[in-house]
Amino acid sequence: MDQDALRSIAAAMVAPGKGILAADESHGTITKRFEALGIESSEETRRRYRELFFSAGATSETISGVILYDETIRQSASDGTPFPAYLGARGVVPGIKVDTGAKDLPGHPGEKVTEGLDGLRERLAEYHRLGARFAKWRAVITIGEGIPSRGCIEANAHGLARYAALCQEAGIVPIVEPEVLMDGAHTIERCQQVTEETLVEVFRQLHVQGVLLEGIVLKPNMVVSGAECAVQASVEEVAARTLDTLRRCVPSAVPGIAFLSGGQSDEDATAHLDAMNRIGTAPWQLTFSYGRALQAAAMRTWGGQEGNLPAATAAFEHRARMNGLARAGRYEAAMESAT
Ligand code: 13P
Repeated sequence: MDQDALRSIAAAMVAPGKGILAADESHGTITKRFEALGIESSEETRRRYRELFFSAGATSETISGVILYDETIRQSASDGTPFPAYLGARGVVPGIKVDTGAKDLPGHPGEKVTEGLDGLRERLAEYHRLGARFAKWRAVITIGEGIPSRGCIEANAHGLARYAALCQEAGIVPIVEPEVLMDGAHTIERCQQVTEETLVEVFRQLHVQGVLLEGIVLKPNMVVSGAECAVQASVEEVAARTLDTLRRCVPSAVPGIAFLSGGQSDEDATAHLDAMNRIGTAPWQLTFSYGRALQAAAMRTWGGQEGNLPAATAAFEHRARMNGLARAGRYEAAMESAT
């Protein structure tokens, strides 16, 4: 394991003022999102769509890394440059999603376990040759009646740790993503309790597998009220509870925490990150690794029409800049309408 290389990649991923763009939707997920807007999903429309983000002017200022999907890491920009080299030339670290999805956990109705360890060493070697310097593996924890179970939390944490160890062996920084879903009517207190139990187990398993904490980036959910909960916590409460939970569970050796957006509105995801950075006492960099909250406005604006690309690019650049400001606690809601 080249510890120095891992540390310097992780530092670049959480560099001040920047965050990560998650553009690693599987075919199924991107097709569902395209079809909801009447956009055809083909290899070329997906390529064109992803290029919109990679080529945007704001990308080199505000995006430290992009998480790619297997198809995208093998595609090229319109000028013929393979996407990993294209991103690298713009100062953006290319990354790759390597899990093969969350499947039903046997014996645990309503719960999932993430798969993808079989053959992972070989796949990581290939992705490294293709230019990937970090990877992502997403585990999913569902809150519901009597769940999550210990069986679900332990199986997912073990998978994350095995994946992270394999990544580091290959010279790839693992994004460790245990996502406690916001779906459901549960309270923010319940989300906090489950997030804490999950993170404690994840860091225990990372330790057992000998993962170098300085060479990972944690990608957690924020502590929020369930999407269907009648009482929705304020921005300040989300920020305070999320930071409290992370302080209780995440060693300060971890260089950075890059949140997922998880179904929050674009503006909520930005405001929550901003509020945490305003508190300003965290021992890690606090940044974003958003998928939907960075892409949604641009996808709607583009709608699959070439002529809409400039407006779609502008929509993305606005969100990227808002999140870049939130990264430093310098975002104001009034900026949304000012631009
Ligand atoms: P969202 O920000 O849309 O939750 O996506 C982030 C991600 O990469 C999920 O794995």
